[in-house]
Amino acid sequence: MLETAEEKSVASLTVRKLEDALKASLRVRAAENGRSVEDEVRMILREAVGPSPLSPPPTAQELAPQPRRVAASAGGRARVTLIIGGGIAAYKALDLIRRLKDRGLHVRCVLTAAAQRFVTPLAAGALADDRAYTDLFDAQSEFDAGHIRLARDTDLIVVAPATADLLAKMAQGHADDLATAILLATHRPVLVAPAMNPAMWSHAATRRNTAQLARDGIHFIGPGTGEMAEANEAGTGRMSEPITIAEAAGALLRPPASLRLYGRKVLVTAGPTYEPIDPVRYIANRSSGKQGYAIAAAAAAAGADVTLISGPVELPDPVGVHVERVEAARDMLTRVEAVLPVDIAIFAAAVADWRVAEASTQKIKKTTDGQPHLTLTENPDILATIAKRSVDRPDLVIGFAAETEHLIDNAQAKLRRKGCDWIVANDVSPETGIMGGDSNTIHLITRDGTESWPAMHKDDVAAVLIARIADKMGKGDA
Ligand code: C5P
Repeated sequence: MLETAEEKSVASLTVRKLEDALKASLRVRAAENGRSVEDEVRMILREAVGPSPLSPPPTAQELAPQPRRVAASAGGRARVTLIIGGGIAAYKALDLIRRLKDRGLHVRCVLTAAAQRFVTPLAAGALADDRAYTDLFDAQSEFDAGHIRLARDTDLIVVAPATADLLAKMAQGHADDLATAILLATHRPVLVAPAMNPAMWSHAATRRNTAQLARDGIHFIGPGTGEMAEANEAGTGRMSEPITIAEAAGALLRPPASLRLYGRKVLVTAGPTYEPIDPVRYIANRSSGKQGYAIAAAAAAAGADVTLISGPVELPDPVGVHVERVEAARDMLTRVEAVLPVDIAIFAAAVADWRVAEASTQKIKKTTDGQPHLTLTENPDILATIAKRSVDRPDLVIGFAAETEHLIDNAQAKLRRKGCDWIVANDVSPETGIMGGDSNTIHLITRDGTESWPAMHKDDVAAVLIARIADKMGKGDA
């Protein structure tokens, strides 16, 4: 039978000519996919070339997503492919490489063309476990199907920063560079950490794209709210901190049952409450909700089933957390009671102590008769109400104490008065910058004593608190 030119060139490519490392990884890949090395090569070439009238269509079994096998190679370490997009937050991707490696993960980087304007492949490659990859048609790779190999020889793909353009390409299924080709070819879980200007994040096109990607099963972490790289710009669009992204990556790689709070129900309150004066005015406070949101995210990352009852804040819903938004304290209490029973309840909300006894149903007018008189009445204490329940009291009830003086004494008194098990106490004097800021200095007050923690980012405070909770609930380390 006569061979066509195409068949001839495929037949002349032999495994003997491959370098040893590539041969070894080909063997591992073939074993992982349950194919012979020859079949694996055939599969790679078929995917690289695309549908051809000369090659038979792949079978359903060949096309089926392969089951996730974590840590099958890379010296027993789970493998992460980090795709670095082209945004100013790309510099944080270098720290992310370190954070991922700290978690014992094998990291390989792919940089888009735009990313290379912010960080160099040399820097990413030096920090990671492998050289950085940048080209779809890489001269150093013996096969043109390098993107297929990169898409499959990994346990998780992390995209950080995920720019608006990269998200749009992913949502549309573009594959015109190495990063997008990998994202289109992979069967592995994908975690994206968006980072962009707030106007781009809130644009209808980006909203459509992220909704589509969420439907496609893409996991999101962030973006957070805060100052932008551009002068005088603030809002939602900041890339999540590398430690948070690494935590989310770790959670996606672990089998859920091994997570420390797997099977536990956790309730978190966060943010301020708005107590109405009339339909347009309210009494509120400066709580940003950041600490409570970070705790909810950390609990979810630890495998818990988390419900977050949030007052009005400018924060995106944490990954994997069921969020209910409320305004006034009484609504917060109603929602909290509806979520019971839970195993652990963490009351981080800055609930207003008072509300206007009779909020006006009409806007209060300015008159010549002087100022309106507002009569205040006490709000229900949500923490104390739940901590003192005789039915469905959570096993662990944790309150917060934001004090400006006699911090520890006041917090210990609060623990007794409210009937909770732990108090997370912090000094919120204006000079500390804690209220609305990103870091926190904590004293953990339990019935056994007080533990003082160093100043930490609120994400780290959340991670340590969740670790303490897991210790208390008696499940060993993952
Ligand atoms: O009394 P204080 O407001 O300092 O107590 C703070 C703790 O009590 C926090 O955990 C807060 O969430 C909770 N709290 C509450 N309901 C209130 C007031 C405070 O749950 N009405």
